[in-house]
Amino acid sequence: MTATIELMRQHRSIRKFASKAIAPEQLSAIMAAAQSASSSSFLQASSVIRITDQALRQQVMALCGNQAYVGSAAEFWVFCADFHRHLQWVPEARTGFAEQLLIGAIDTALMGQNAITAAESLGLGGVFIGAVRNQPHELSRLLGLPQGVIPLFGLCLGYPAQDPEPKPRLPADMMFMENGYQPHHDEARMAEYDAQVRHYYQTRSGGNKDTTWTGQIADTLAREARPFMLNFLHEQGFCLK
Ligand SMILES: Cc1cc2nc3c(=O)[nH]c(=O)nc-3n(C[C@H](O)[C@H](O)[C@H](O)COP(=O)(O)O)c2cc1C
Repeated sequence: MTATIELMRQHRSIRKFASKAIAPEQLSAIMAAAQSASSSSFLQASSVIRITDQALRQQVMALCGNQAYVGSAAEFWVFCADFHRHLQWVPEARTGFAEQLLIGAIDTALMGQNAITAAESLGLGGVFIGAVRNQPHELSRLLGLPQGVIPLFGLCLGYPAQDPEPKPRLPADMMFMENGYQPHHDEARMAEYDAQVRHYYQTRSGGNKDTTWTGQIADTLAREARPFMLNFLHEQGFCLK
């Protein structure tokens, strides 16, 4: 095992932060690590907006379901897929393809993961915030996002004021397959994992709840998933063809 793998295996989202700023050289290092992520066709189809204005941060927090840590983390960054830049430098560029939504989302997610891993290596912690997509029209107006730019996720970063246990993941052989798709129907294994997740939620330091993995999935996937998203994507010039 390497120190990098050890660090990655210790990942857990942090939602309580000390009120201590992150030093500028650390911020620059995290940004450089994020920018070093691979990029599909080297399009570098991402922009990251750092919210440093406190009044603006409060407005962004309100649009993110009022999740307190969006307001209290030392840093809050909004990760966006960005094809506006390409159109600016190459106006004849052809955009709007569904494939480019995937490219923008993948490039940006890789940057985000690099950012949080770099931060964790510096003793910081963080949590991604998908709730930036709760009210995407309003957030886009607030941040002045032009055509070709969509907010994908936020990232809270700061010094941890909690030390939660890592959350148990699915058995590896349910997610890693060989030479083809292998559906998993082992109910006993799933019951075992459900019990492990229930135990995690009941004993974790950060507040307990009584649920299993399949229970949580049933709840989450019973709800509509931001049904306004397709319209928003079209309005911003994504997924038109
Ligand atoms: C794209 C993305 C969006 C997320 N959005 C939120 C969010 O809005 N609020 C939150 O508290 N956690 C959010 N999370 C954190 C997940 O809940 C968390 O990663 C997951 O439960 C696994 O826990 P762990 O990160 O502690 O291992 C998000 C994670 C990802 C990858």
